[in-house]
Amino acid sequence: MSKILIASDHGGYNLKQEIVKYVKYKGLEIEDCGCHSTDSCDYPVYAKLVANEVAKSDDIKGILVCGTGIGMSIAANRIDGVRASHCTDTFSARMTRMHNDSNILCLGERITGIGLALDIVDVWLNTEFEGGRHKRRIDMI
Ligand code: RB5
Repeated sequence: MSKILIASDHGGYNLKQEIVKYVKYKGLEIEDCGCHSTDSCDYPVYAKLVANEVAKSDDIKGILVCGTGIGMSIAANRIDGVRASHCTDTFSARMTRMHNDSNILCLGERITGIGLALDIVDVWLNTEFEGGRHKRRIDMI
């Protein structure tokens, strides 16, 4: 299993804390890159922090949480080599791993409830990339 990095802004802080607990409970290691409270902060700072690391290695995956998940995904996808996927359902989470080799999952605390968010995390972490024609398409991005 890849190394997992997670970060959020204030809008995603509470969901991030739940995801960290859940992933550890599942026996996986996860590194919390902040933020560390619900004090207002800027999501691009945290998106870039995680995205820059993910871009360096195929063995690093990232999870980014903000209020909607959208700001994080926009910011993370500016980094070359990052394929950040904003997911609000498990089907998208599965398909974005299988077809897009998604290496960052973005979630919105104000959009997706904890139960569904944890299911999305589970599916995203446990689905493999299919390769083949999908690899060719990714190479075109
Ligand atoms: C913060 O209020 C909010 O704008 C941020 O968490 C995120 O939703 C941005 O896309």
